[in-house]
Amino acid sequence: MSSPPSCSSYLGRPTYCAVALVLLLTLLCITFPAYLRNPVSVASCFTGADVRAAAAAAQPAASASAALVADDGGQLSILVGVHTMPKKHSRRHLIRMAYALQQTAALRGAARVDVRFALCARPMPPEHAAFVALERRAYGDVLLFNCTENAEDGKTYTYFADLPAMLGGAGGGSGEGRPYDYVMKVDDDTYLRLDALVETLRRAPREDMYYGVGLPFMDRESPPFMLGMGYVLSWDLVRWIADSDMVRRKAKGVEDVTMGNWLNEGGKAKNRVNIFPRMYDYKGAQAKDFLEDTIGVHQLKEDIRWAHTLAHFNATSDDLRPSGEGSS
Ligand SMILES: *[C@@H]1O[C@H](CO)[C@@H](O)[C@H](O)[C@H]1NC(C)=O
Ligand SMILES: *[C@@H]1O[C@H](CO)[C@@H](O)[C@H](O)[C@H]1NC(C)=O
Repeated sequence: MSSPPSCSSYLGRPTYCAVALVLLLTLLCITFPAYLRNPVSVASCFTGADVRAAAAAAQPAASASAALVADDGGQLSILVGVHTMPKKHSRRHLIRMAYALQQTAALRGAARVDVRFALCARPMPPEHAAFVALERRAYGDVLLFNCTENAEDGKTYTYFADLPAMLGGAGGGSGEGRPYDYVMKVDDDTYLRLDALVETLRRAPREDMYYGVGLPFMDRESPPFMLGMGYVLSWDLVRWIADSDMVRRKAKGVEDVTMGNWLNEGGKAKNRVNIFPRMYDYKGAQAKDFLEDTIGVHQLKEDIRWAHTLAHFNATSDDLRPSGEGSS
């Protein structure tokens, strides 16, 4: 006999809980002038010193040394939810490797970063269902939500609102009943440097916190919203989203602006961390097209852009001689 699959065990191992739902899409940016989505080009309008100053301003004010010591007695934990679609198997595989290779001893010593793929359960044609089921069994890193993959149909709402029930007591958040300290939503065309992400989050407030590339870029204290390429909420805000009737009523809309609207209307997220210009749209393959203290690169839609970005950050090797030849 079978009991209902337990969603709370989901992160621990692949199970088959048919979970919850909905979605959003990454149409996000079309409502903004392209230049607003291009921090590097915007940043390059400034002098180098200005760019460095802006980057420095992206750091929370806490002292740098505090960053190296967990001050709450527990290990920092972050759920990174990569929002993608069932059909994108090969892209998921690339992203899976890109993040697995970043799980170094140093990173694991600094934080627990669980990367999961957030998919809507509908539509799920049979071939996608089969492949997704394989991935869940093989990797256990796919979260299925009860939603439809339609632009602006509320996937982001479902993602945050369903996580508390889905995760239950799982996870390793340092606070009571907190499966994670932070939950991130990131696009599947964004490459994150997890060490830089962790380093900035370690110094960020653990509660009432909203982190990302804020618009307007130069509003360091209270940008109305963070761009959808990748943003982070503290766990208390995830709980609040799950419990709020106001948010449920306003679930749909351009997802990144909508998130800001919920928090603003609810008087939430007093702590906002604007990481502009450290997460930005892909500009090109040359070294000058990437910032040294990059947290994320966005607009990696084509494989070649992933190749350039992974190569720049030394995730790949140039040595592609046939295996066994002259490696010393
Ligand atoms: C999924 O969502 C639909 C519509 O929102 C709802 O009718 C259905 O009961 C949900 N299924 C589950 C398993 O929660
Ligand atoms: C990649 O490796 C080279 C050679 O070790 C180094 O000079 C460069 O700074 C590295 N690039 C990045 C982005 O870490």
